[in-house]
Amino acid sequence: MSKDLGVGVISLGWMGRLHTRGYKQVAERYPELDVRLRLVSAADPVQRNLDDATRSLGFERATADYRELLADPEVDVVSICGPNYLHQEMALAAVQAGKPFWIEKPMGVSAAQSKEITQAAEAAGLVTASGFNYRHTPAVEHARDLIRGGRLGRITNVRCWLIADYASSPQGPLTWRYSKELAGSGVFGDLLSHGFDLAQYLVGRIASVSAMSGTFIPERPKALEQGIGHAAVAVTQETYPVENEDYGAVLARFDSGVLGTFETSRVAVGPRAEYVIEVYGTQGSVRWNYEYMNHLDVLIAADNAHHHGYTRVMADATHGDFGRFQPGPGQGMSFDDQKTIEAKLFLESVLTGEQLAPSAADAWAAAECDEAAVASAADGAWHDVPTVPGRTTYDR
Ligand SMILES: NC(=O)c1ccc[n+]([C@@H]2O[C@H](COP(=O)([O-])OP(=O)(O)OC[C@H]3O[C@@H](n4cnc5c(N)ncnc54)[C@H](O)[C@@H]3O)[C@@H](O)[C@H]2O)c1
Repeated sequence: MSKDLGVGVISLGWMGRLHTRGYKQVAERYPELDVRLRLVSAADPVQRNLDDATRSLGFERATADYRELLADPEVDVVSICGPNYLHQEMALAAVQAGKPFWIEKPMGVSAAQSKEITQAAEAAGLVTASGFNYRHTPAVEHARDLIRGGRLGRITNVRCWLIADYASSPQGPLTWRYSKELAGSGVFGDLLSHGFDLAQYLVGRIASVSAMSGTFIPERPKALEQGIGHAAVAVTQETYPVENEDYGAVLARFDSGVLGTFETSRVAVGPRAEYVIEVYGTQGSVRWNYEYMNHLDVLIAADNAHHHGYTRVMADATHGDFGRFQPGPGQGMSFDDQKTIEAKLFLESVLTGEQLAPSAADAWAAAECDEAAVASAADGAWHDVPTVPGRTTYDR
């Protein structure tokens, strides 16, 4: 495949702008990929975003109609960064146009939509990428190496929580995220899908779940304008119902017999983006917190006979792709850098035909976990998580 690729980005909200920055960084961070990118087209119905596309983001053209972008012969690869309810139609249209896509999570509003998107892309022989950026953190890759290398012994259990405050104000606008029709589940799909993916990436497939959930801010004012991500915007005086969960707690059993606990909230007052995963084994454990994303706390009993507690490993060039971003140990990496790694994996998948990036099938696998958790929270029973037969990468 030609290494001259034209990029199209559908939707220029928070994620569309982050994907755009990711693409821009790839050639500099990964020169050996020898990819030459052109930001050809962006699509968004909001005029301000169209203006930004050509004025400051670097796109050659912009359109309000994403189908026009997909029909553009100069667009070779596509990012799909719209609200969840548009993912299915956008992804199926990208498949129809024969364009590989990098899509955000949760993919669609249900596991059924995730399945349809995955199967359409795979039937068309297209590589994909999905937005599970936390996997790419060098400290997380180091944790995976330790786990896979047997340094923690036999893995016994996982603790994971994704606790955020982005919706903690009752004045926070009722955007698409709070609607079952437009978002699907609430914080399960929005945040916990990352936790399910991380846990599966580190220790393998989740087999069954039991969950409870709650909606702690049952009504919110409506947004009067389209903002970016969770940004505050002008709101109505009246309030309207929130339709999906603000909080959830999940017990999980993995195929391997590993046990897990998960907790997630979008309305916590205190933690900002406290995304933590801890993996325990018979010979040690690791603990990672996104708020300190370049640290990994490690205790390996064999290296620490007196059990003096965790050693804080600060990421350096021996961990994951850290060296692509900073030549010196202990420097900071960021959310943007995670997305640059994801952009590189997507483009490398396109160039080689090998599925290297987290795939649509991985997003489907996480969606099956989300949906089983939602079902369990509704009926109180344990729910099996169906196996996904697609090209998952978490288990490589
Ligand atoms: N990977 C992550 O960590 C992460 C973080 C935030 C959001 N997300 C996901 O990214 C997706 C987008 O979230 P966001 O925070 O960027 O949302 P956002 O609300 O900031 O942006 C959504 C954009 O979609 C545009 N849009 C609406 N209708 C459209 C249409 N018909 N055609 C084209 N564009 C249209 C809006 O104008 C807006 O610019 C969601 O699936 C979300 O769950 C992932």
